[in-house]
Amino acid sequence: MRKLFIAGNWKQNGRLALVEGALQTLSQQPEAMWQDCEVSLFLPYPLLDFAIDKKQMSGLPLVIGAQNVSAYADGAYTGEVSADLLAELGTKAVLVGHSERRALFDESEPLILEKMKRAHAAGLNVVWCIGETQLDREGGQHFERIRTQLVDTIRALGIAALSKIVIAYEPVWAIGTGLAASTHQIQEMHQYIRDLISDFDKNIAEQLRIIYGGSLNRDNIGQVLMMPDVDGALVGGASLDPSHFVSLCHIGTEVNKKLES
Ligand code: PGA
Repeated sequence: MRKLFIAGNWKQNGRLALVEGALQTLSQQPEAMWQDCEVSLFLPYPLLDFAIDKKQMSGLPLVIGAQNVSAYADGAYTGEVSADLLAELGTKAVLVGHSERRALFDESEPLILEKMKRAHAAGLNVVWCIGETQLDREGGQHFERIRTQLVDTIRALGIAALSKIVIAYEPVWAIGTGLAASTHQIQEMHQYIRDLISDFDKNIAEQLRIIYGGSLNRDNIGQVLMMPDVDGALVGGASLDPSHFVSLCHIGTEVNKKLES
């Protein structure tokens, strides 16, 4: 069984005090939760060093990740942060291709590919975010959109790179809207993604974790994680409340136990 992956994406939110609060809440959770669930927090750049320090002191197996990474090696790129620097700080993972980066900061597929290459070379794990817009779905183009986002990049990276990648399916219309996709829509797309990867390599497709994101909370995450091709969750809004976030991890581990039995 693929290990459950629950990640919080704080976006442009959070202060030092929230890092302390989150780490404290996480450190009170039983050992069993950590065994069954890989937990990550994707934080704004300036909080990374502080969070990594705290995490190391607490000994928690929490993964601290960044929300973005530069497409370039060190050099004259004002305001950017290189994959090598992130790795040196102890950052273990990075989000690439989040829909807010695509829509608000004009990130294109070629740029996303460069970011993935940099992250890969620096040894960072990548949570690769993909998803269709409302318009794509209304026009029946949602599968095609996902295919376009995946195929060229996989060809350029090489299928083996997927062993250090988690794919996050996040329909743009479901992010921050309170309108999560239905379990049917989620399972159908996750299966489509797994089948598509399977055309490249069956084993890698079988091991690949495909997680869902978009308006998840403690009321709907259980049903979503019951779906056979859903291996975890990327959570925005609800991850800003540490007790809500850990309840999502607990619900996830409970669901996994049910599925295993
Ligand atoms: P949301 O965000 O949970 O607030 O919808 C998800 C995301 O953007 O990763």
